[in-house]
Amino acid sequence: RQARRREDALEDRHQRAPADLMRAPTPMPVPIKSAEDIAAMRVAGRLASELLDYLAPHVQPGVTTGAIDRLAHDYMVDVQRTVPATLNYAPPGHTPYPASLCTSVNHVVCHGIPGERRLRAGDIVNVDVTVIKDGYHGDSSRMFCVGPPSIQAKRLCDVTYEAMWKGIRAVRPGAHLGDIGHVIQKHAEGHGYSIVREFCGHGIGRSFHEEPQVLHYGRPGTGLKLQPGMIFTIEPMVNAGRPGIRCLADGWTIVTADHSLSAQWEHTVLVTPDGYEVLTQSAGTPPPPPACGSSGSPGRYRTRRTAPSPRSSPPAR
Ligand code: MF3
Ligand code: CO
Ligand code: CO
Repeated sequence: RQARRREDALEDRHQRAPADLMRAPTPMPVPIKSAEDIAAMRVAGRLASELLDYLAPHVQPGVTTGAIDRLAHDYMVDVQRTVPATLNYAPPGHTPYPASLCTSVNHVVCHGIPGERRLRAGDIVNVDVTVIKDGYHGDSSRMFCVGPPSIQAKRLCDVTYEAMWKGIRAVRPGAHLGDIGHVIQKHAEGHGYSIVREFCGHGIGRSFHEEPQVLHYGRPGTGLKLQPGMIFTIEPMVNAGRPGIRCLADGWTIVTADHSLSAQWEHTVLVTPDGYEVLTQSAGTPPPPPACGSSGSPGRYRTRRTAPSPRSSPPAR
């Protein structure tokens, strides 16, 4: 979602405040989900991830992004019995979004509208889906390489994935939102990339976009303190070049101002009593990267009540 101006962003004078277009009239509290909410969000999250699993084999050279949108729509409506949250989604100041998912190719940062554009070998594309099941939203996106990727494109996708996971691994009660933003920013900028400031992760539940805003940059120890039962997305947008963006005339498509490549990954995450649980999981979810550096959360990946991620292993040196 589009980041609005907030105190956290203003605390750091070196960081430009995000755009103000979606400022709520009054500050809303951060919802703490009930056990029933959490159970329903696990279902919605799994369905979003299963939709990406279903679409993955179709992301091939020669396929149009519009064809992927139609496949997604029909799978949601006919197979999952979910509602495509993005279809006709119209936040204040926006025309209704015309598709059932977003396909953001190469220098498109986010909110790319599917159409007649054919994917070509060498493209990278973010596919971002949000399903509604029994009134609850599940929101996730993945990067796909169409045919063999260039080394630079693959590296951007990998570093962005690692950045998202560093953010996820910072999630635990007592941690601050600034801790999440900080590790994401540090990882991306440490590789010479930049973080898009104008869009952020978001609380999610019965609403598509709710409190809190989850900025993908920040300072440790700042911002909201996390509590068990909070659910939000982490969805960093990372540009290979400069951080600046532009919005196309369609009112939705966001591109890098310098036309550099951009990547994004997204999971919906629950704050648990001892760490985190990734809600947008299914059989085809890519495994988390090996844990490197400081991020001591005992978070759970594949199973809810057992050990840490099966793929976590000592850092390769
Ligand atoms: N799924 C996006 C997100 O992660 C929002 C897309 S809204 C749309 O928040 F209207 F552009 F589809
Ligand atoms: Co989202
Ligand atoms: Co999304």
